Amino acid sequence: MKDKIYIANWKMNITSKEAQSFFDKFERLYKKEENKKVVLCPSFTTLVSSTNSQSLKNLDNIYFGAQNVSDKISGAFTGEVSAAMLEEIEVEYCIVGHSERRTIYNETDQMINDKIKLLAKSGIIPILCVGETLDSRERGESDQVVLKQLSSCLNQVAVSEIIIAYEPVWAIGTGKNASISDISNMNSTIKKQMNKLGYIDDQFYILYGGSVNIDNLSSIDEASFLNGFLIGGASLNPQNFWDIVDK
Ligand code: PGA
Repeated sequence: MKDKIYIANWKMNITSKEAQSFFDKFERLYKKEENKKVVLCPSFTTLVSSTNSQSLKNLDNIYFGAQNVSDKISGAFTGEVSAAMLEEIEVEYCIVGHSERRTIYNETDQMINDKIKLLAKSGIIPILCVGETLDSRERGESDQVVLKQLSSCLNQVAVSEIIIAYEPVWAIGTGKNASISDISNMNSTIKKQMNKLGYIDDQFYILYGGSVNIDNLSSIDEASFLNGFLIGGASLNPQNFWDIVDK
């Protein structure tokens, strides 16, 4: 059976100091559960102190991930952080292609593809976000959009493990969710496409993200081919996040 993965995307929230109190509380709540993995994705500065923090070091099945990485190897790219820099601080996962980066920072599939190739070289597992906007959904183009994102972002990529997070853009931070049948259909589309791209089932995980919380978790969990969740708002509080992982 595949592990279930719970990823906390803290976005631009939680300073290093605040993270310390999150970790202290989370450590008290945390019980290792078989077949469950937790990945915490703080901001870059919090990530550095987090990977050095003693609180979670001894706990099994908790990992750290970055929220972004540069599409360039190194050089004159002010403000960027490279995959090698993430590797140096032993980051194990990295989110790429989040819709906030695609829309606010104009990231293209080509840039995301370059990022994934660099992550692969550094042995960091990519968490690739895909999902349609409300417009494409209303035009009935959800599948087309996600299929294109997958084939472009994974073009000539060779990774032994990857996480695909299906996050309908209109569901992120809005309190709206896709229906279970929509999520199941999309997961099946993603699974078929991943197989077509040469990935065997053991090499990829399919997660759902977009306004996931303790109240809607169990029903979303009924979707087929679902291996976990990418959680924004509901991951900012240690008790809320733990309740989700523990459910
Ligand atoms: P949300 O964010 O849970 O707050 O909707 C999810 C995400 O953007 O990854």
